[in-house]
Amino acid sequence: MNEFDSERIAYLLDNEGYFATENIYDCDIVIINTCAVREKAENKLYGHIGNLKNFKTAKPGLIICVGGCTAQNLKEKISKDFPYVDIVFGTHNISQLPELILKKIKSNKNICEIKEKGFDCILDKFKRTYSFKSYIPISIGCNNFCSYCIVPYVRGREISIKPEEIYKTAKRLVSEGIIEIMLLGQNVNSYGKDLDKPITFSHLLDKISQIEGLKRIRFMTSHPKDISAELINIIADTPNIMNHIHLPLQAGSDKVLKMMNRNYTKEYYLEIANNIRSVIKNSCITTDIITGFPGEEREDFDHTLDVVKKVRFNRAFTFIYSKREGTSACDLIDNVSKKEKKEWFKELVTLQNQISLEENQKIVGECLEVLVEGKGKKNFLEGRLENNSVVNFEGTSDLIGKLVNVQITGAKSFYLTGKIL
Ligand code: 5AD
Ligand code: SF4
Repeated sequence: MNEFDSERIAYLLDNEGYFATENIYDCDIVIINTCAVREKAENKLYGHIGNLKNFKTAKPGLIICVGGCTAQNLKEKISKDFPYVDIVFGTHNISQLPELILKKIKSNKNICEIKEKGFDCILDKFKRTYSFKSYIPISIGCNNFCSYCIVPYVRGREISIKPEEIYKTAKRLVSEGIIEIMLLGQNVNSYGKDLDKPITFSHLLDKISQIEGLKRIRFMTSHPKDISAELINIIADTPNIMNHIHLPLQAGSDKVLKMMNRNYTKEYYLEIANNIRSVIKNSCITTDIITGFPGEEREDFDHTLDVVKKVRFNRAFTFIYSKREGTSACDLIDNVSKKEKKEWFKELVTLQNQISLEENQKIVGECLEVLVEGKGKKNFLEGRLENNSVVNFEGTSDLIGKLVNVQITGAKSFYLTGKIL
């Protein structure tokens, strides 16, 4: 979602005659689009702003803008702590950015513009990073209030975008040469419930999958509590809907899941994962896991390891719990030592890396379709399989944006190698 917002910002500024530069020394405006999910992202922001101080001293006319979730979260604090930041804008103020920049140039006064709520995402107005694949957001915000998560506070309540608008955008993109679309939402499975004429996510997927020329449809993120048999069936039955589901587990123990306000149990998660594995051919399940949640004990962590072993996730994003001010988990007492958290985290990562490696090794020798996405390391091309795994192989850059057949020749935990056929 953050990347899509950057594409919106790029579009708006392009429209005003600004253009992007690769080299920071050439620029007159710097825009930092921030994340707030973990403290690390916030610290990164401080590092970036700190680095810009000397740069601004050397180039006094430089305009520094900070937007996105940390701007929304910290509000005036950024302007107060870093007076050389010219513009702070919130997650609901993106479309105002060109006008804020003009205001700053005219008045030379610092600006902090943060709406508490709103909806200013117009699907037509974004600058695609790639010529062959694109994001389309289908809903903004989240209603789930998982107890550790800052997202509902900085993105607001869930608002579904009208299916006609999504369909129209997808059709336009395909007519412009896009062959892969990633539908975005904090919880795509609850899509459409808030619309005047409610529809399900499966229904939307079905409609979009009928667009001629659209080769690959992806979506994220799926909340396990809202996943339906209808959705699993439609993925299984529709060739251009990819076989990959990102299904955040977060934790394996019922006690921790309850404290996280996730609204499902370990057994329920395992049941869904089993359904996916049995209904969708060659299914790929990836996940997010948090370790060290306040109150999590070794016994709880063992349940997480147990789910990891049973589901055999193809890939997992693993995080150490990060306390976010204002969330309800903030009030929970944390009795787990930092040292212990780190050890659990390492144990989880080692286990998952081994499983990812073994799952990748299973497809060595197969010939699979790859969307060539760009240049990888050395002279290699980089592309993705249907299941979203990265494949590196030798080839010429005229293949970028095309679907090619690749024989898988090698496997690592995080990527595969192959030979183009
Ligand atoms: N601490 C650690 N990880 C978090 N995530 C969200 N909030 C936190 C937090 N406070 C993780 C979840 C989510 C992913 C995007 O980030 O696993 O699925
Ligand atoms: Fe955060 Fe939970 Fe919403 Fe995901 S579903 S954005 S983890 S509150």
